[in-house]
Amino acid sequence: LRTPRTELDSHTVMFGVFGDPIRHSKSPVMLNRAFEVSGINAAYGAFHILPGTLKDAIAGIRALQFRGVNVTVPHKLEVMDYLDEIDEGARIIGAVNTIVNDNGKLTGYNTDGIGYMRSLKEETGLDLRGRKVLMLGAGGAARGVGYAIGKEGAAHIYIANRTKAKAEELAHSMSSFCSVSGHGLDEIGQLAGEAALIVNNTSVGMHPNVDESPMDISLIPEGVVVSDLVYNPLLTRFLREARDQRGAVIHSGLGMFIYQGAYAFEYWTGKPAPTEAMREVVLASFG
Ligand code: ATR
Repeated sequence: LRTPRTELDSHTVMFGVFGDPIRHSKSPVMLNRAFEVSGINAAYGAFHILPGTLKDAIAGIRALQFRGVNVTVPHKLEVMDYLDEIDEGARIIGAVNTIVNDNGKLTGYNTDGIGYMRSLKEETGLDLRGRKVLMLGAGGAARGVGYAIGKEGAAHIYIANRTKAKAEELAHSMSSFCSVSGHGLDEIGQLAGEAALIVNNTSVGMHPNVDESPMDISLIPEGVVVSDLVYNPLLTRFLREARDQRGAVIHSGLGMFIYQGAYAFEYWTGKPAPTEAMREVVLASFG
């Protein structure tokens, strides 16, 4: 049941996503649907921004008066050099995924972490205050999620990563706002038993490597929440086995994707995002 698409005309407000690669992105489908059901005359495109051209592309936001842009891999760090202001959370995370253009003044935000936390709460009801968390992975995705979990009041965050030094580095950078420590994957056995939430922030299990899992399922304690940032496939091997073999409450990466887009929509328009319609259209696009 699709409402008719608003006609593009000379009043249409422009948005987009900048990335490399970009053709797999579900953001245009999701955000155009959000504008459509909200009755906003806007259009959101996918822009393939090659290395070395990001500065010009950002200048283009001002010149063409785009209202907002999402930024994705590999530009989330470099883009910070070309903005007028950076929100505190994005500065601490060290990455920007959303730009708001206020009459030529560009402000950068990071909606990945807050998007993750909102979907986790809505889908699982988990309250992290006073609880311990095991995060797997210490890359770009882990930075946003770690920030949100730390700000949520978790008692302690264990970050376990294949490259232990990166886990220790990330833990150090988070230590100003939460209790956190970095570990190697060999320590997961001891850490997992204390966790109320286990999150996969690595790319392990992502299409096409759908048979891989980021940790030994038998180490997952019963009744915990297990969360995976991967959303292609929607149900990873990790989540499926955690649910079927350990009775875990599971939370897929699709929620984080929907809500990082929802927060961007809300920053740009000041209106609540139609998250159910966004979820529906993204699910439909997976076929
Ligand atoms: P993203 O921006 O998606 O987080 P990234 O910054 O490249 O991507 O981080 C990828 C994460 O997945 C890292 O924590 C990486 O571990 P290393 O720091 O040791 O590289 C983790 N990762 C990727 N492939 C992995 C694998 N096969 N086994 C274990 N960890 C893996």
